[in-house]
Amino acid sequence: MPAAITDTRHHDAIVIGGGLTGLRAALAANGAGADVAVISKVHPLRSHSVAAQGGINASLNNNKGEGEDSWEAHAYDTVKGSDYLADQDAVSFMCQDAPRAVLEMESWGTTFSRDDEGRIAQRPFGGAGFPRTCYAADRTGHNLIHTLYEKAVQAGIEIFEERFVLSLAMEGGRCRGLVALDIASGEVEAFSSKSTLLATGGYGRIFSRSTNAYINTGDGAALALKAGVPLRDMEFVQFHPTTLFGTSILISEAARGEGGVLTNAVGERFMSRYASKAMELAPRDIVARAIQREIDEGRGQEGGYINLDLRELGREKIMERLPGIRQIAMDFAGIDPISAPIPVQPGQHYSMGGVACDVNCRTALAGLYAAGEAACVSVHGANRLGGNSLLETLVFGKLAGENMAMDSAAASFDDGAAKALANSEQLRLKEIRSTQNRTQTSKLREELNRTMFTDFGIFRTALRMKGGLAIASNLANKGESIGVGDKAKEYNQALIGALEFQNMSCVALPICMSAIAREESRGSHYRTDYPKRDDLRFLKHTHITKRAGEHALTYADVLLDRWPLEERRY
Ligand code: FUM
Repeated sequence: MPAAITDTRHHDAIVIGGGLTGLRAALAANGAGADVAVISKVHPLRSHSVAAQGGINASLNNNKGEGEDSWEAHAYDTVKGSDYLADQDAVSFMCQDAPRAVLEMESWGTTFSRDDEGRIAQRPFGGAGFPRTCYAADRTGHNLIHTLYEKAVQAGIEIFEERFVLSLAMEGGRCRGLVALDIASGEVEAFSSKSTLLATGGYGRIFSRSTNAYINTGDGAALALKAGVPLRDMEFVQFHPTTLFGTSILISEAARGEGGVLTNAVGERFMSRYASKAMELAPRDIVARAIQREIDEGRGQEGGYINLDLRELGREKIMERLPGIRQIAMDFAGIDPISAPIPVQPGQHYSMGGVACDVNCRTALAGLYAAGEAACVSVHGANRLGGNSLLETLVFGKLAGENMAMDSAAASFDDGAAKALANSEQLRLKEIRSTQNRTQTSKLREELNRTMFTDFGIFRTALRMKGGLAIASNLANKGESIGVGDKAKEYNQALIGALEFQNMSCVALPICMSAIAREESRGSHYRTDYPKRDDLRFLKHTHITKRAGEHALTYADVLLDRWPLEERRY
């Protein structure tokens, strides 16, 4: 028997996740007087935010002569891009706050690229009526996270790195904290809080071809589901049109924003068939489908890719604005985009769905908040526009932190739940460590990855999805009794892999169920058996809740208070 856990750490506000959302929330809570801690699976500078390339949207209007941008134009583009599934109050809030959020980061030290007059440079991005994507070459996330990390260290915010959060502690209908595994020591720790934020990012690694970091295993969504909190719109999975063939490394939309073109095997700019006006800068759902169609119908290059041609941009522009893309193409494909096209194919990139929360980041469980990619607030609806993800992290991270601080002032600690949970989690981990399974976790994970990519990919049908759900359910069952047969306490990577698999398989099921139930095509969810949008039946958010081991699917209204429904044309 392991020794009983009697200690509890206390913080008014605990943020789970050390990426942009988490750090921005922690700074806001700290600024509002709360004692805040960040708990992260990795060092914050290793979070997936660091990989964001192309930029962050804000109607700064720095491109004079291109017409007048405004927060309303930004919001309209976002709503249309979402295929009308985004909640318009949340979209309005985000787009109105965008210029402030970007200028704040500039004032805190983020080094943005500049235009000839020294203003923050803005580039065109998909589905946007104006060049409103502010950028730092093609390393925007890297620059932003370094700024926030420095601010967090300066503010003295306590950061618990390499902690795997096992469960949320609940008592009296309220989240009271959490229990985490210290990956380095193998010890289980109890944390007591008055408010807790899920800022854990997405679940991209459920899919075999993903731009996401290996850490993106849907941990926040799994914690919420286990706690009886609904997940919203999980069927909407974004496939980025351009990832480096064979590696799934992101090739930023910025490459097309700067003038790169897509060509098929006969050298045709095929986007004219799919989006004759916007061409390569149509929203991602449309471009990803177009590429996949070209490949599926035999117009791709041998092996299954199409070309992204940057040669017209010239050496100087590529070196200045896309240095990271050039390096990736050279290092991983042996191709210099200055002189040859980049082979690309679509890959999973982003989770539009997530933990259901209101426009103030509050979930259905008192004391629990969600923000960023882990959440579904919902600003992206059925399809996110490029550049709106970084924006969401800053705008809703700040709001979540402020609301946590405010709510914490009126709440009190209750250690009992976290302590009791820590002791039962300690026993659960002991069981996983000492049980020897016949199937390795990596094999289960591979099967889940393959199933999700082939059966819940860019083109979906009832037949394939139902088959996929059966496989995913079977894998989730195996996950519940998983064992690793490795009793090591320190840095037990087999244990972490098993815990991550449990989370991934548990989050896969709501994706499957929501997708099967939505008998229409909208945004990223494209069904060849229901190829049209059906506003009469499905202008609704999907919610999946798990209670007593059973999943329940319900629908909720979409808030459309300003921009009426339109057919999406680009
Ligand atoms: O293509 C990109 O640079 C990705 C941007 C985004 O997902 O917002």
